Amino acid sequence: MKNRIYIKDLSSHIDEEVTIACFVDVRRDQGKLVFFDFRDMTGKVQGVILPGSKDAHEVATPVRTEWVLEVFGKVNKRPERNVQAEKQNGDIELEILGIKILNEAVTTPFDVSSDGREIGEENRMKYRFLDLRRDRMQKNIRMRHAVIKHVRDYLSNEGFIEVETPILTKSTPEGARDFVVPSRVAQGKFYALPQSPQQYKQLLMVAGVEKYFQVARCMRDEDTRGDRQPEFTQLDMELSFAEENDVMALNEALLIEIVQKLYPEKKIQEIPFPRISYKDSMEKYGTDRPDIRTDKTDPNLLAFCWVVDFPFFEKTDEGNWTFTHNPFSAPKPEFIENILEKNDIGNILATQYDIALNGFEIGGGSIRNHKPEALKKVLEILGHSEENINENFGHMLSAFSYGAPPHGGIAWGLDRLLMLLQGEDSIREVIAFPKTGEGRDLMMDAPSVIEDKQLRELGINFKVQK
Ligand code: AMO
Repeated sequence: MKNRIYIKDLSSHIDEEVTIACFVDVRRDQGKLVFFDFRDMTGKVQGVILPGSKDAHEVATPVRTEWVLEVFGKVNKRPERNVQAEKQNGDIELEILGIKILNEAVTTPFDVSSDGREIGEENRMKYRFLDLRRDRMQKNIRMRHAVIKHVRDYLSNEGFIEVETPILTKSTPEGARDFVVPSRVAQGKFYALPQSPQQYKQLLMVAGVEKYFQVARCMRDEDTRGDRQPEFTQLDMELSFAEENDVMALNEALLIEIVQKLYPEKKIQEIPFPRISYKDSMEKYGTDRPDIRTDKTDPNLLAFCWVVDFPFFEKTDEGNWTFTHNPFSAPKPEFIENILEKNDIGNILATQYDIALNGFEIGGGSIRNHKPEALKKVLEILGHSEENINENFGHMLSAFSYGAPPHGGIAWGLDRLLMLLQGEDSIREVIAFPKTGEGRDLMMDAPSVIEDKQLRELGINFKVQK
């Protein structure tokens, strides 16, 4: 829009005539004076139609909240007694001289000027495009951008590059159920959506990338809860020639910088972040994501801690061995022999490090098993047959036989971190378009049935199992 001034910049245009483009936030009629609060992405300003402005009065008569306007007006300094110092633009007022209605709005199904906590979540999800208009949600999505941008800049400066990895892929053994996508061309076969870019990022290390990161979408068909969505975002990274301390130190420095630069009101309880062994954490806190805050009433206290020395394997209910985190992890160096000899399996410790914040697991990673023979042994311990290993992990073993650098990495649950930084109690509040507890998108109405024609093309003929 030509000559548009953003609301945040109005105070540098005092006594000038300007044009803004905005939503109507509030309308207040006081006899001959009509007041509005206008809102654009940069903030709010009060506008007033003075009794003399006949034309403006006429156009403004039908205008209601959430209408979209172009407003032409003069920026006036408010008289001293009307100044609201604590408010953005509290010292100015826009004297409305003309209004162009860009779009009308029907009455919204709920108030978008409140913080929204009083509104049923189903309704908020169905009309998410309106729900996102409220200040709290605008702050959440804008701070999310700021954090992600900070991460991108920081890691780029450290020599990392962001590489996108496929969404249509093959199942990765992350421990959750896969979402699958039927193939039209290869009927009867399915892609899986990635639970994480784990295998691709390791293959990028084999490819010589050395420092990879990605703001990566991950999909896991798990039951949804406050800190868990079927579709979520990781800050994923992997480094070649790195040891546990390299990955931990880099991530710790990045997290500290994010808090200090973007959340200066928050206090980190302890730097360097304390390191607690899995065993101590379970004994002392009864969980592997301990809440070590010394004052749980302080919303600005951030208590990060690392949890290390995880057991590599645990027994399933059926009595078989399964991995606790990641089959691609390396054991701690002193347990390599145990892996190769499949000896004392229950006591083998992994190079796994998790990071917890105020009782939530906000990230986890490990140094990987880059030697093909050792990885093969792990897969054997996990009960994979030779055939199964070749079919599912053959590409990894093959890749590692061509000179794989030692490597390791980590992935943050970005949604969880943002939830905690923004002081929210659910990751749904920091995701623009989240799913409900039942995994549904109420706005788009997904999942939904598809056309018979689509099913035929895919060669799918199914019966719903009761
Ligand atoms: P992991 O499975 O521990 O590790 O995932 C890393 C982090 O992602 C977050 N997270 C989730 N957030 C929201 N909804 C979910 N359903 C969900 N599941 C996980 C958590 C978790 O700490 N590839 C490995 C990482 C690595 O080893 O580098 C991985 O995915 O905060």
